[in-house]
Amino acid sequence: SLPDHSQHDMMMSMPNNEAPLLEKELMPKGQPLKPLPLLVNQSKQQGVFETYLMPMSTKVEIIPGKQTTFWLYNQKILPIIDVMAGTKVKVAIENHLPEGTTVHWHGLPVTPQVDGNPHDPVKVGQTRQVEFTLPAHFEGTYWFHPHPHETTAEQVYKGLAGGFIVRDPNDPLKAIPEQNLFFSDLKLNKEAQIADNSMLDWMNGREGQFQLINGQYQPVISLGGTQRWRIWNANSGRYLNLSFPSSEVEAYQVASDGGLLEQPVAITSLLLSPGERAEVVLTPKKQGEFTLTALAYERGKMGKVAKEKDLPIAQVKMQLKDKINLPKRLRDIPTAPVATAFHKIEYTEAANPKSLAGVDFLINGKTFDMNRIDYKVKAGTVQEWEIFNNSHMDHSFHIHGLQFQVKEYELAGKVTKPLFKELKDTINLKPYEKARIIFVDYDKGVRMYHCHILEHESLGMMGQVENE
Ligand code: C2O
Ligand code: CU
Ligand code: CU
Repeated sequence: SLPDHSQHDMMMSMPNNEAPLLEKELMPKGQPLKPLPLLVNQSKQQGVFETYLMPMSTKVEIIPGKQTTFWLYNQKILPIIDVMAGTKVKVAIENHLPEGTTVHWHGLPVTPQVDGNPHDPVKVGQTRQVEFTLPAHFEGTYWFHPHPHETTAEQVYKGLAGGFIVRDPNDPLKAIPEQNLFFSDLKLNKEAQIADNSMLDWMNGREGQFQLINGQYQPVISLGGTQRWRIWNANSGRYLNLSFPSSEVEAYQVASDGGLLEQPVAITSLLLSPGERAEVVLTPKKQGEFTLTALAYERGKMGKVAKEKDLPIAQVKMQLKDKINLPKRLRDIPTAPVATAFHKIEYTEAANPKSLAGVDFLINGKTFDMNRIDYKVKAGTVQEWEIFNNSHMDHSFHIHGLQFQVKEYELAGKVTKPLFKELKDTINLKPYEKARIIFVDYDKGVRMYHCHILEHESLGMMGQVENE
């Protein structure tokens, strides 16, 4: 049982002062899943991908007869960049929002100078050219989203996010047809406008009444034969514990945040905290239909929240054809090297009636300060970080610009090693759990690390490491 927290009891009795939300029934559902809109390459040069990202306010008729104002890139809902390894990527960011913004390349190994750090916003009406070259041997499912100071959560829940796929020409799974499932959250008020965060949203991470996939509510996904699904959890606060019932489908996880696993792993469910991605290869076992469901994940929360329920998120229509067998081996992931630099961070919460959440979310006793470097290390050093979630809530850990390996988890004195090797940029930590992770950052500059429940990040559950 968890230690007693009087602060916790205080939160439990707090009223939810939320304005009424739009009835769920008004949202159309059951439409075939649409592909994500592809950002087309404007460059004719071999090996170069060039595009622009223009964040702006855009009205969309998502509820029949109503105009909902979103903030979107290029007036598209969740656009996607899809490029080969080794590509030189050039993006012009043209800010048409009424406030500053940045574009962060979540999971990609780009230098801090082009990674959309909060120090360096693209101001209203300005354009910024960013450029980076992807490694020659590299693949996986990444994404981009704004990262401005204190308003990341708001800019993301208003609609600013997109996918970023990198392909390896020798991908062992390239014969398998693909679908992209980009999960995002939508919370609409009575007027069908995007609702502000309530205090509970700030506390627990926002969870609207609509869980969308590719911007659609409860769509129909057609699964004809074996398919590879790339899955993003781009929700602010909702964890997704996706169920793949063995009575309906054969499911293998083949990749996580940083690309392919070493071998396919048979699964019947998949837990993704906000920010995490995975790839799953599915083969239907019969003709028919089943409901893709996010099973209740009883995460540690503060505040009085309804008991978690299973959430139906899509209908899957299955057709038996073209079973494709998976190779036994997908790739080799090198064993994590031995660390020479060690760093510890600890998550806690402290009551603060002035905070939007009623609490401060702290890392080593502090909230984020842009002018403070929390840790300095020489670029290229093998580092081991211990992240201790010393609180009764689930929090995640994400660090920019690199992938790490988890060496071990520790909970209630019990140490467990990961079951298989994988490259991660975001992991969840249960209440009172510790994780020890290993990574190397070769780039000089300032990297952010934070909880990826975006409300927590925006309230300052974030720190900075400087690689010298
Ligand atoms: Cu999705 Cu600071 O990250
Ligand atoms: Cu990131
Ligand atoms: Cu958190």
